Amino acid sequence: TRGASHLSWPQGRWFPRVPAKSVVALKTPIKVELVAGKIYRWCVCGRSKKQPFCDGSHFFQGTGLSPLKFKAQETRTVALCTCKATQKPPYCDGTHRSERVQKAEVGSPL
Ligand code: FES
Repeated sequence: TRGASHLSWPQGRWFPRVPAKSVVALKTPIKVELVAGKIYRWCVCGRSKKQPFCDGSHFFQGTGLSPLKFKAQETRTVALCTCKATQKPPYCDGTHRSERVQKAEVGSPL
C-alpha cells in the first residue's frame, strides 16, 4: 500500500558486494564454557555486543559477513578470540598480543 514504504526495511538497504572487514571487538579473549553437542555462533565481524558470540550485528550493519557456526565436541572451558585476528577461529591463538592488534583501535579494522 502507498505510504508504507518506510516499513519495508531492510529490503531497501544497500548491501556491499564486497564484505566489510572485521573489526577488533576486544584485545583479550573471553573464556566460556562450551557444552558438548551445543551449537554456537562465533562473531566474525567484531560488531556484536555479545562477544564472543553473534548478536546479528553482521546483518543489521550490512557487513556481508557471517558468524562462524560450530558444534562443541566436549564440555570444556575455552578462550574464544575477540580480536578477530586469530588464525584458529573461533579460538584464541595469542594473535591479540601482536603489535598489529595492540596498536589497533577497538571497533576498527586491522
Ligand atoms: S583474542 Fe586472542 S587471538 Fe584474538
